[in-house]
Amino acid sequence: MKETEKSNSWRKDFPLLNRDNLIYLDNAATAQKPECVLKAEMDFYTKFNANPLRGFYELAMEATDSYEDARRTVQKFLNARFPEEIIFTRNTTESLNLAAYSYGLSSLSKDDEIVVTIMEHHSNLLPWQMAAAKTGATLRFLECEKDGSISRKQLKEVIGERTKIVAVTHVSNVLGTKTPVEEIVKIAHENEAVVILDAAQSVAHMPVDVQKLNVDFLAFSGHKLYGPIGIGVLYGKKELLEKMPPFLTGGEMIQSVHRESAVFAPLPHKFEAGTVNAAGAAGLAAAIRYIDSIGFDAIEKQEQKLTALAMEELKKIPGISVLGSDKPEEHCGILTFTIEGVHPHDVSAILDSDGIAVRAGHHCAQPLFEYLEIPSATRVSLAFYNTEREVHALAESLGNVRRRMGYEQ
Ligand code: ALA
Repeated sequence: MKETEKSNSWRKDFPLLNRDNLIYLDNAATAQKPECVLKAEMDFYTKFNANPLRGFYELAMEATDSYEDARRTVQKFLNARFPEEIIFTRNTTESLNLAAYSYGLSSLSKDDEIVVTIMEHHSNLLPWQMAAAKTGATLRFLECEKDGSISRKQLKEVIGERTKIVAVTHVSNVLGTKTPVEEIVKIAHENEAVVILDAAQSVAHMPVDVQKLNVDFLAFSGHKLYGPIGIGVLYGKKELLEKMPPFLTGGEMIQSVHRESAVFAPLPHKFEAGTVNAAGAAGLAAAIRYIDSIGFDAIEKQEQKLTALAMEELKKIPGISVLGSDKPEEHCGILTFTIEGVHPHDVSAILDSDGIAVRAGHHCAQPLFEYLEIPSATRVSLAFYNTEREVHALAESLGNVRRRMGYEQ
């Protein structure tokens, strides 16, 4: 099989990819970690481990420096104006909950509207259901077409003067479609609403510039960006974060505490209560440096090539229907499909018997599945370290699924 030299040279950076009999195609759930990320976490614990932001001895100050360096690395990655606009959390879910509990509950009232898309992952839907239930605000949905696109007409109809928050995914974790963020931001801001972008599925695949997009908040997880599990980010515009109440309270998020009251710390620490995940932050910074060393041009090129090949191969297999756009370049490495007469859990189990890891089910996006009138589906999600050989192996295994389930072909 023809492989580019480059794709092979990236693979060696990921120790887990050496595992026998594994074709890892579940990158939208979590990506594998390069050696440099593992080393950065190990280095934190073996060289700098102390509780950051507290001690006045050399080791603790080094731990603090490592943590704050990581914040600046994320700031640069997102092109945020200030390091204090970067809040470390556990993951996208916690970042979106922070936005909903802190910004949502303090700014919404009963005549207001929150707008989401029908494609949201549950983590960008349930926090807004909660905010709507607690404040009396109304939750409204931007419907998409079957290919995942959202028309300008829909945006104009749903986002209006009652809208206070527009919380949308950047890339659908099921269809791989990119939402029209620039247009959403323009219409939302014309109506004085803030835009909260769930970038969980985009940051690993394309440059994301918060100033260029002009979003007000943005959330992502380190683990989908080749970083560690357990570290995530909420970006917020400084002027908004400054006015927001804390989400979690406790140690290190205060300036002073009295019996009955407290003065909170300035940004970003107001939002980082308790001992922080400094090793995770160091790992995330290493992941960002690693991605930077490859560059998004190369990443997008390789992922595009693999997605186009996978789509071409899947289309040849009888009974397979790929959800979303017909164009591979509109999938962001994600191909979700059904196989006529075969439950996705069976598809996944058969692929697994050939060493191929994919995700099957409703992908934490049940409203989208209801809208598509499909109970569940199987998802292949590609990363730049995947290869053409792996895509061909996937196609071969998928080609046998219906036969292995007892169909004639
Ligand atoms: N949000 C992750 C996914 O889509 C877990 O699989």
